Amino acid sequence: MRLGILISGRGSNFEAIANAIARRKLDAEIAIVISNRANAGGLDIARMRGIPLRVIESRGMEREAYDKLVIEELRTHEVDLVCLAGFMRLLSASFVEAFPNRVLNIHPSLLPSFPGLDAQRQALEYGVRITGCTVHLVDEFLDSGPILLQSAVPVLDTDDVETLSARILVQEHAIYSQAIQLLVDRRVTLQGRRANIAEIEA
Ligand code: GRF
Repeated sequence: MRLGILISGRGSNFEAIANAIARRKLDAEIAIVISNRANAGGLDIARMRGIPLRVIESRGMEREAYDKLVIEELRTHEVDLVCLAGFMRLLSASFVEAFPNRVLNIHPSLLPSFPGLDAQRQALEYGVRITGCTVHLVDEFLDSGPILLQSAVPVLDTDDVETLSARILVQEHAIYSQAIQLLVDRRVTLQGRRANIAEIEA
């Protein structure tokens, strides 16, 4: 499976996916990393690892026009699965239609709680005892779409946004590659918005 990874920043989820591939825990290949920001830290990770990368600046661009450029780039690299990894932009319906059920996102909360920006801060301020992260298929709405995997993380009384985010991030790095491998193994079938995951045959 050829992955196209979309980033805007640090790129630690992208790096975790690259590590899982290197350790043969994930049977996939990163065909291209695309950043909508020229200064994304994740670009250095791609450079150091010799992974093809492309900056397509989004600033000032209409959503549809921007998405068209990204779709073209993904098609050029024959991408099968698009992985949003800290990509800070909502995708258009035509993007989602171009890769039906073939776009994944990771979000740092147990959706549908705390969608949108600053999910870890939202969880802290709400006062939940448990939060976590979610890997889901992307539809045209924000942090919506069928859920593939979630991991729960405790919120401690001593937590601030930084400590809680760090605890969640460890789980993000684990479940993103696992969710991709589920798709590689064709174990996911959709029933409405429910994703059923087939057991591995003995
Ligand atoms: C992660 O917390 C991810 O869940 C959210 O944005 C952050 C990206 O971090 N969507 P990184 O760029 O992968 O390090």
